[in-house]
Amino acid sequence: MSTVIKNGTVVTADLTYKADVKIEGGVITEIGPDLKGDEQLDATGCYVMPGGIDPHTHLEMPFMGTYSSDDFESGTRAALAGGTTMVVDFALPNPGESLLDALKRWDNKSTRANCDYSFHMAVTWWGEQVFDDLKTVIEQRGINTFKHFMAYKGALMVNDDELFASFKRLAELGGIAMVHAENGDVVAELQAKLLAEGNTGPEAHAYSRPPQVEGEATNRAIMIADMAGVPLYVVHTSCEEAHEAIRRARMQGKRVWGEPLIQHLTLDDSEYTHPDWDHAARRVMSPPFRNKQHQDSLWAGLQSGSLSVVATDHCAFTTEQKRFGVGDFTKIPNGTGGLEDRMPMLWTHGVATGRLTPNEFVAVTSTNIAKILNCYPKKGAVLVGADADLVVWDPDKTKTISAATQQSAIDYNVFEGHEVKGLPRFTLTRGQVAVHDGEIRTQEGHGKFVAREANTTVNKALSTWKELTAPRPVERSGIPATGV
Ligand code: URP
Ligand code: ZN
Ligand code: ZN
Ligand code: ZN
Repeated sequence: MSTVIKNGTVVTADLTYKADVKIEGGVITEIGPDLKGDEQLDATGCYVMPGGIDPHTHLEMPFMGTYSSDDFESGTRAALAGGTTMVVDFALPNPGESLLDALKRWDNKSTRANCDYSFHMAVTWWGEQVFDDLKTVIEQRGINTFKHFMAYKGALMVNDDELFASFKRLAELGGIAMVHAENGDVVAELQAKLLAEGNTGPEAHAYSRPPQVEGEATNRAIMIADMAGVPLYVVHTSCEEAHEAIRRARMQGKRVWGEPLIQHLTLDDSEYTHPDWDHAARRVMSPPFRNKQHQDSLWAGLQSGSLSVVATDHCAFTTEQKRFGVGDFTKIPNGTGGLEDRMPMLWTHGVATGRLTPNEFVAVTSTNIAKILNCYPKKGAVLVGADADLVVWDPDKTKTISAATQQSAIDYNVFEGHEVKGLPRFTLTRGQVAVHDGEIRTQEGHGKFVAREANTTVNKALSTWKELTAPRPVERSGIPATGV
């Protein structure tokens, strides 16, 4: 059984050209003019692009006394509805738990996925067990990326000594370090002060996490990564201070990547002073939304290439869950949704406004992260031999985003009311049509785990660390006597 996508324009991170795309056995087998197949999908007026990869999701994640409300079924269904064909979720060990035991839980949850997926792991504590587990996870489980929380003090946060130890181990093993970069000690102190002064509402969440908190931690993580000799991926980069640190590091030749979220690019901090408590609390996430100047910085980063990937950090909580924080903003579960809306929102506010080219859109939603994660060109490519994870994108199709029509399991949408122009006509997961013009044909359990090997080439191409880690004792002509 073969499928041909007819009469479309292929758009990759590099090229734009008219061609049909033939699919057999879930992979692309031919690209060219006038192809024939058993089944035809009409792509007239559409772009044929690599399906999106969202490298930052938290599906059914235990967090802040509850579980995020989209699981691997509803989360990947939402992803496919919006043109995303692969998600990368974070497997989180409990303090003291082995990484391999934590992975078992994620293996069980992910059997319901409608599209392909991979995992990052979090390093939430440090010890001999983690030192050993990292080798097993990288070499036997195909996971090469490890997140470190520099915030959430008393829960997921690791300190600088743990960060340095873990980064050095990852450098040895060819892993990539990831950081949630916020200074958790400063946040904890600001939270306590705000609460003591009677600032209990959701707006205080933003006051407790100013851009300086993120800028400081981003700089610190970059310097520690440089000393350890490990490439660094900074998740949810939300402000100029963090972007500046990443930009500078990249100009110095350091292997550092920044990941803005679609929420930070398109929503701002005025959401937190909304008179409706629920409206504001639904938008509580870390880092918080920022003002227009920070948004402009993030867009400039995508345009110039100093920021590499647009993600969602999809971590969806219902209104009822958000209300755990009535009277104390520190108890509002942190996280927002976005999986279904990332690609249409980025197209609308990026490509349709002229900020990004369609090729840049493909780069930041798919190809760049496939390369960083070391699963390119299986994913992130329109090439013969690549998985047929494709989106047939109609740049003229419009809709108004609404919780009433979304796939996510929660009862609201942070983009409610936004008009988007640019939506999937078809989304294909390994050659199977999962979505056609908004009609959902997903298949629970169709998704497979994507293993990713350590990328030792990138790890060898670091800038300054070799000098820092190769100290030599100074040869002296005489040493003074002691103990006289
Ligand atoms: O607020 C957020 N971002 N929640 C999800 C967990 C994380 O920090 O990524
Ligand atoms: Zn985070
Ligand atoms: Zn996250
Ligand atoms: Zn909008």
